Amino acid sequence: MLELKDVCFTIQKDGDPLNLIDRASLKIPRGHFMAIVGPSGCGKTTLLKTIAGLNPESDGSLWWNGRNLSEEGDLEPWEIGYVPQFSIAYDQLSVDESVEAATRLRVKTKGATDLDDRIDKVLEETGLAPIADRQVSVLSGGQKRRLGLAMELVSRPKLLLCDEVTSGLDPRSEHEIVNLLHDISRREGRIVLSVTHSLAHLELYDSILVLHEGRVAYHGTPEQLTHYFSVDHTELVYPQLAKQAAEKWHSSWLKHSGTYYEKLEHNRQNLVNQGLLELPADEFKDPEKEVIAKEDEIRAPGLISQFNTLLGRRMRIFFRDRGQVFLQLAILICFPILVVLFSPRANENMRKFTDGSGATLQQKMEERAGVQADRLKVGSAVSGIIMFQVVLLSLMGSNNAAREIAGERQIFEKEKFGGVSPVAYLMSKVVFLAGLILIQSLWMAGFVELFWSFKGSFADHAIFLVLVNAAMTSICLGISSLMRTAEKASLLSVYLVGFQLPLSGAVLALPEAVEPITRPFISAYWAWSGSVKSLSSDYISALSSISETQLSSVNLCFFILLIHIMIGLVASWIGTSRPQWEH
Ligand SMILES: Nc1ncnc2c1ncn2[C@@H]1O[C@H](COP(=O)(O)OP(=O)(O)OP(=O)(O)O)[C@@H](O)[C@H]1O
Ligand SMILES: [Mg+2]
Repeated sequence: MLELKDVCFTIQKDGDPLNLIDRASLKIPRGHFMAIVGPSGCGKTTLLKTIAGLNPESDGSLWWNGRNLSEEGDLEPWEIGYVPQFSIAYDQLSVDESVEAATRLRVKTKGATDLDDRIDKVLEETGLAPIADRQVSVLSGGQKRRLGLAMELVSRPKLLLCDEVTSGLDPRSEHEIVNLLHDISRREGRIVLSVTHSLAHLELYDSILVLHEGRVAYHGTPEQLTHYFSVDHTELVYPQLAKQAAEKWHSSWLKHSGTYYEKLEHNRQNLVNQGLLELPADEFKDPEKEVIAKEDEIRAPGLISQFNTLLGRRMRIFFRDRGQVFLQLAILICFPILVVLFSPRANENMRKFTDGSGATLQQKMEERAGVQADRLKVGSAVSGIIMFQVVLLSLMGSNNAAREIAGERQIFEKEKFGGVSPVAYLMSKVVFLAGLILIQSLWMAGFVELFWSFKGSFADHAIFLVLVNAAMTSICLGISSLMRTAEKASLLSVYLVGFQLPLSGAVLALPEAVEPITRPFISAYWAWSGSVKSLSSDYISALSSISETQLSSVNLCFFILLIHIMIGLVASWIGTSRPQWEH
């Protein structure tokens, strides 16, 4: 039994409290199918989220089988299924892959057979078995809703909350989905609450809850709805609601609720007597002494198991997304080639000063001019190549991570609500991106090395290339995790890369007043500087003579880049652990 006692959800508007849900009291027995209806903006979604625990109630209390949820802890993630209006599946996966991932993420299964049985059962139950191999991207609206339901049913939740799962469907699909929800509520004593705009098929529900401006205006059987509102047809309920203030409807409901609840109970007894309602053995007879039998407990899988599932799914989605693979390959191949174009100049020999004995003054002057010209030419080419590598890897880093979390935010929020650990999620992202970073950076270093050999410690140079890519990827992952939309995250990441080159000081020295402020943030400077410092000493002195920008020590560059990586990871952690549902 789910019970709401004077539940309020209050927000502050212009400094005053505003009740979006106002003293909602309801009793919903197990195996019950309830519709939540009401005009747009009346608080249906808000009520559903309050019941789900996503909106903490400001006043009143929620009870589940005699347990006060606010005092004794919310329902376990597996006990609740929440089907939002948006699609929660990845387009690149097939129907059964989506259901499989949902099962692996939410349920600790007992081996492969148990996993397969669960998947098959859910696919059967939701009528998706015949199209199990189909890719999500080609599913119809109704099939997508079924998949959304299937992905919730994998944990056999006791409470299923659906938000507008029929909106936008044609009448036949709508009918099918409402029927499906009805059937789901008839099994295992499951409570199904469904928010809907549509006043069609109300007869399939056990009860209808009419909300008006956050207040309960009616909660009773579908048959008595028109009678209560004194109208001939359900379509006329909304116009009738508007005729009276919400407060009046609420008090009128409080006055009559007793008789309507009797009728509900009567209907329920009929269903039980006819054997139409399957209730678990632990269904209590005496509501005062509710005893919950220990069912075979479903437990959430461990961190490592979730991590494996998430990483496996991420790789699969990556390789299925042809556009993404093509883009990554194109970048991987073209960027180093661009750098190599500059190699002939950097390969030229730098003349060195001779000991000058026996030379005339004119010869000495010519030699000096020649050596300096060489230093300028070769030194700037070498500096340019290193900077070019650094900037292109920064670009790859931003491309790697900018959309990584923001692009799937709602799916992640949903999965987090279903019990997926943010640590497992972040770990899967870090490992996936680390793979990309290593391939991109080492390939860049190695490929360029074939055409222009790094005159110094190549290992240090390669490490700096890996670090700059990692720093930019990590910072952009942080941005992706903190931003609300993928568009915002991409834009910010592009700006961040755009500023790297001009603010690095590698091309033009910055004004003295600006440099100390911007420098700590510019990963490209630290990677460039560290790489240049790894060159042999004649190159370092050649570069120092042509650039006013001070170089920093290899160790300092190394540590600052590590700090950038850490900052990015901390930002990613903050962004993933705080809830960011759309309203
Ligand atoms: N967290 C929030 N902060 C401020 N206002 C909110 C918040 N959540 C909801 N609202 C406001 O509360 C009202 C009820 O919103 P809700 O989404 O519950 O309506 P609804 O009945 O689901 O509407 P619809 O049928 O259009 O989906 C709206 O006016 C909405 O703007
Ligand atoms: Mg809504």
